[in-house]
Amino acid sequence: MNKYNVITLFPDLINEWKKTGIIHQAISKKIFEVNTVNLRDYGLGDYKQVDDAPYGGGPGMVLMPEPLDNAILKHKADVNIFMTPSGDQLNEKLLLELLEYQSINLLCGRYEGFDQRIIDMHADYEISIGFSVVSGGEIPALFLLEAITRRIPGTLGNPESLEFETFKENKYDFPVYTRPEIYKNYEVPDVLLSGNHKKIQEWKKNNLKDI
Ligand SMILES: C[S@@+](CC[C@H](N)C(=O)[O-])C[C@H]1O[C@@H](n2cnc3c(N)ncnc32)[C@H](O)[C@@H]1O
Repeated sequence: MNKYNVITLFPDLINEWKKTGIIHQAISKKIFEVNTVNLRDYGLGDYKQVDDAPYGGGPGMVLMPEPLDNAILKHKADVNIFMTPSGDQLNEKLLLELLEYQSINLLCGRYEGFDQRIIDMHADYEISIGFSVVSGGEIPALFLLEAITRRIPGTLGNPESLEFETFKENKYDFPVYTRPEIYKNYEVPDVLLSGNHKKIQEWKKNNLKDI
């Protein structure tokens, strides 16, 4: 069973996500496992300190190496992935590579990010989920986790959902429609109501847009 550990200062964010929809079902069916590791538990001193001011000055705080190092050493995995805006951009090829690992640690940064030495010591991957900066690594880690886990057989109700999908073969998915046939003068394309399987498949293929 694939196992994912999310090392974070905000485990509640991850734990809430675990309660939702197909993720919850897949975890209950033991298709994969997601554990949260509270970085605060590895904080230093009475105040469980995890961050400090940057050497050389500048705004914000930096995540100290020692709590992260101790958390990683306690929760060993096949690979450690650091969520960083400057990392490799997540794409289909990278996702398929990550699917091969039985266990992954996902490291979520906060503030001004990680002390570079912890990345130098432990990072097998640095991954970015897009060309925008958010305030913490939790949402990027969840984005990555959803993208990986929906590809694990058994997670999706219907595995055919993965057959035609945006980004496959450098295309965007075709548009989809459901009832009613007409909504406020907006109509479903006739061909989709025709029952002609061959024509419907052709229409779907012709409506995959180029990226
Ligand atoms: C406010 S950001 C740090 C930004 C950093 N000072 C910079 O400009 O690159 C705090 C944390 O959020 C996460 N993060 C923010 N944007 C991200 C992105 N696009 N992809 C992956 N992680 C991201 C990282 O874990 C990062 O350490």
